[in-house]
Amino acid sequence: MTGQPADETLSALPQLGEREMETTLRPSRLSEFIGQPRVREQLELVLESARRRGVPPDHVLLSGPPGLGKTSLAMIVAAELDASIRITSGPALERAGDLAAMLSNLAEGDVLFIDEIHRIARPAEEMLYLAMEDFRVDVVVGKGPGATSIPLEIAPFTLVGATTRSGALTGPLRDRFGFTGQMEFYADHELDQVVRRSAKILDIEIDAEGSAEIARRSRGTPRIANRLLRRVRDYAEVRVDGRVTLEVARAALAVYDVDELGLDRLDRAVLSALVHSFGGGPVGVATLAVAVGEEPTTVEEVCEPYLVRAGMLARTPRGRVATASAWEHLGLRPPSRPDQAGPTLFD
Ligand SMILES: Nc1ncnc2c1ncn2[C@@H]1O[C@H](COP(=O)(O)OP(=O)(O)O)[C@@H](O)[C@H]1O
Ligand SMILES: [Mg+2]
Repeated sequence: MTGQPADETLSALPQLGEREMETTLRPSRLSEFIGQPRVREQLELVLESARRRGVPPDHVLLSGPPGLGKTSLAMIVAAELDASIRITSGPALERAGDLAAMLSNLAEGDVLFIDEIHRIARPAEEMLYLAMEDFRVDVVVGKGPGATSIPLEIAPFTLVGATTRSGALTGPLRDRFGFTGQMEFYADHELDQVVRRSAKILDIEIDAEGSAEIARRSRGTPRIANRLLRRVRDYAEVRVDGRVTLEVARAALAVYDVDELGLDRLDRAVLSALVHSFGGGPVGVATLAVAVGEEPTTVEEVCEPYLVRAGMLARTPRGRVATASAWEHLGLRPPSRPDQAGPTLFD
């Protein structure tokens, strides 16, 4: 889709019509999964030990910003276990009955993947506790004083939960996961590998500098790296001979309005509001979200993690603060802050 607006080119969230492409590019085994060495090694141990003991592994929680590979890893868990995977999401489990139906259809050793698990409704969550712990659900029949609960056995399974917001999970739910993988933003050299792997699969000719440039501007996020690669490929095919070099990558990324650091529209809006409307902060996240016309949770879960890691934004007890690099990135001179300056003659 060449005509995609620049706004969406950088979003870490999957765009319309992109799912099919994501399936093509998704690594299917742990050995193909690039980066995240810590999570990968830990998960390898969890899976291998379960395999040796011949039991389903502990429930797995994957947490981290969008586009870092949580869904891919969930599918890999099932593939490595030679198990089938059932996929649902927190928002889809509105009533406990929805979850009960899902659980009672599981076969022994199946993987149940619940995406956005922090958005699960309370009654379903409570049902999940018992299911995770005892492989049992209590189905309530009837209403009021005459209601009875019928215990129902379910096959031993492994739950894989994904969340962009592990802090929003209740304690009891979090405690029932035997393993939590905290996904981190990718280093440039890891994204470079992602770009080269995808280029190979999509049959795109790209040189080392071209892929490094795309990697560098991908906001630490494989989903964005793959998207930028496709946009650069479009440009290379239409404007030049199809080969992606450094010059081609730069020219293409300029057309799509991708900045030097790969910040997206929302990132830039947040920084700009922080600097222009609030003098650099501190300002509360809710106020900041209103200023950019977004939900506070989106600003908090999608946008801030990368700005913090890029050293542009600091979360302080008094609110969000723009760092000197943020001012500089916007082409402004950082103010000398009296509250941050060293001791003066009058102290
Ligand atoms: N470690 C990785 N190695 C290679 N490709 C990856 C990796 N992580 C993610 N991707 C790519 O990024 C896309 C988005 O990943 P996904 O698992 O859907 O992220 P999330 O569920 O965390 O939002 C996938 O389709 C895949 O092509
Ligand atoms: Mg996902």
